[in-house]
Amino acid sequence: MPILKIFVGTVYGGALDVAEQVKPLFEQAGYDVSIYDQPTLEDLLGSPTDLALFCTSTTGSGDYPGSLVPFTRALGEQSPSLAEVRYGLIALGDSSYGDTFCGAGRALDALLEDLGARRLGERLEIDAMETFMADDEALPWAEAWIAEENLQVA
Ligand SMILES: Cc1cc2nc3c(=O)[nH]c(=O)nc-3n(C[C@H](O)[C@H](O)[C@H](O)COP(=O)(O)O)c2cc1C
Repeated sequence: MPILKIFVGTVYGGALDVAEQVKPLFEQAGYDVSIYDQPTLEDLLGSPTDLALFCTSTTGSGDYPGSLVPFTRALGEQSPSLAEVRYGLIALGDSSYGDTFCGAGRALDALLEDLGARRLGERLEIDAMETFMADDEALPWAEAWIAEENLQVA
């Protein structure tokens, strides 16, 4: 069974909740799914990863949540080749923060791309000003992502 790893960056648990809500959709699509809420680079590269999904909120002024910092710092310091990595990205943010809206998700996306990873489809940005329950946007996005990128394996 192919392996899908969901890497979460969260402060208050919203992004983790999104990861837990979308997990069954990927299981139904034929994946063995694991959620990493304190991810390390070893989690991504130390064992096979057929597909990755990053799910992160933004804190501070466009900053990564603390739980994601070891992962992003290791990426920056080690600059591993991510040429084998295919991923999707869900960013949670709040447009009332202006220019730093979804700053962590956008920065992570750029970092992954710089290291050679290939994003499948468009990044989802969920705005807390518009969407009270992030799942309301994440679930249809995940369904469409699976269909449009032909990710179904079972
Ligand atoms: C102290 C603080 C700083 C924040 N800074 C930003 C920001 O710079 N940009 C943004 O888009 N959202 C920002 N947010 C909004 C959160 O990213 C948003 O509420 C998100 O849904 C929280 O998800 P979480 O529960 O997974 O942490 C901030 C929220 C807090 C409480």
